[in-house]
Amino acid sequence: MDSKITFLLTTLLFVLVAKINGSALNASNYQYQVVVEQTAPDDSQIEYIFLKQSDMMKVWGTNLTAITWAHAVNSQQLLDEVLTETSGIDFIEADIVLGKLNGDGEDMPIMAHPPANVSDLTLSEFLNQIINFNRDHEDQKKGVKLDFKSIEVFEGSLDILDVNIPNVSLPTTYPVWINADILSGPVEQNRTVPVDADRFFAGCMRYKQAVLSIGWTTNWGADFRDGEYTQQQCDDMLETLSENNVLSTGQAITFPVRAGIAANSEEQLHRLVAAVNETNESTLTIWSSAGDYVDVDKLRKLIFSFGLDRVYLDVPEELASQLNLDNPGNGASTFKSLFGFSFMSLCFWALSSWMQRL
Ligand SMILES: *[C@@H]1O[C@H](CO)[C@@H](O)[C@H](O)[C@H]1NC(C)=O
Ligand SMILES: *[C@@H]1O[C@H](CO)[C@@H](O)[C@H](O)[C@H]1NC(C)=O
Ligand SMILES: *[C@@H]1O[C@H](CO)[C@@H](O)[C@H](O)[C@H]1NC(C)=O
Ligand SMILES: *[C@@H]1O[C@H](CO)[C@@H](O)[C@H](O)[C@H]1NC(C)=O
Ligand SMILES: *[C@@H]1O[C@H](CO)[C@@H](O)[C@H](O)[C@H]1NC(C)=O
Ligand SMILES: *[C@@H]1O[C@H](CO)[C@@H](O)[C@H](O)[C@H]1NC(C)=O
Ligand SMILES: *[C@@H]1O[C@H](CO)[C@@H](O)[C@H](O)[C@H]1NC(C)=O
Repeated sequence: MDSKITFLLTTLLFVLVAKINGSALNASNYQYQVVVEQTAPDDSQIEYIFLKQSDMMKVWGTNLTAITWAHAVNSQQLLDEVLTETSGIDFIEADIVLGKLNGDGEDMPIMAHPPANVSDLTLSEFLNQIINFNRDHEDQKKGVKLDFKSIEVFEGSLDILDVNIPNVSLPTTYPVWINADILSGPVEQNRTVPVDADRFFAGCMRYKQAVLSIGWTTNWGADFRDGEYTQQQCDDMLETLSENNVLSTGQAITFPVRAGIAANSEEQLHRLVAAVNETNESTLTIWSSAGDYVDVDKLRKLIFSFGLDRVYLDVPEELASQLNLDNPGNGASTFKSLFGFSFMSLCFWALSSWMQRL
């Protein structure tokens, strides 16, 4: 084929891709700058149309690492700080245990992290305040991740969730994640009793709109170096998922993994996510405790090996800033995956219409 025709055809394709992707990507809150000047093969200046990612606003569904987290929002004061127009927080993570409101009265689901079992905030009140905030702030809705610390508190929370979750999970509203550590994990963790997986999944069946966030108990800190999510632990997760028919429901799944340990587990985690991917997409949520040892280079490599569209990042700011996620180093993979499909379809379409005219 004459090189000029090839060139024109390519230009045409870029224009079309720009048009189609322009409207599709709008939905995921990307904005694009169009037009970059390039030199044509015959040296004349032609205006190519290229797409350039610019001014990314909220990036839910694309660059998941850009989503901002408030971790362990387990008191009224912390919730007040997060539920403002200026907090800049997208996602609220909080822990639920059985305990007493202000130390008095009946045991009930309250917001606290073990070993604490007293709080000034109940689960019911916590969800209520988030619902009210989100109702009044259409464009600043916050997602919520509920970390249940025992099967008893999860089952004791079902009535409260029944009242609250349907309302917050209609398509136009915000994400709700239900989290529990359902298996014993690294490093030879045996001090925390995992949440009973079968009973947890049985309860979760009621909330099809919620994302299942399911992980392992962990034993890690500043003095740890070695330790990984073993193949056995990942296989156990898969087995639990399939025994409970979770893979056939199409319910969204994310695996919360502790940064320092995940960094050592790239192969196993890829196998796990690939296996779950046979029935549906899953993501990783990388979290970390302040002071945890993390091999930053390995973690960075792990994140880019999955892609920024598959990894949530709920880690202390100090770690996040070291990760240097602005620069993938080997071309923009998100860009490629977003464009691959439309571009190939258009190539086929353009080629076939062109052939018809011959
Ligand atoms: C993207 O959305 C904005 C407003 O939400 C609208 O003005 C604009 O026309 C849309 N662009 C495309 C390419 O659909
Ligand atoms: C709360 O913690 C205290 C002190 O550790 C303990 O005595 C009490 O039984 C705990 N209550 C619950 C509901 O776990
Ligand atoms: C949720 O919606 C149901 C039905 O629309 C309603 O009865 C219930 O009060 C709502 N709950 C909250 C917390 O708004
Ligand atoms: C927990 O693990 C440690 C380290 O492997 C071991 O020494 C200890 O005996 C274990 N405890 C129990 C109750 O299994
Ligand atoms: C994956 O999940 C979505 C809903 O999140 C569902 O519509 C789809 O059918 C599922 N796909 C498979 C192969 O189960
Ligand atoms: C998930 O499965 C789809 C369809 O089978 C495939 O195109 C995609 O590459 C898989 N992704 C990963 C991360 O394995
Ligand atoms: C993704 O988000 C992170 C965190 O905001 C940011 O540092 C990075 O530049 C973004 N990467 C891309 C490719 O958009």
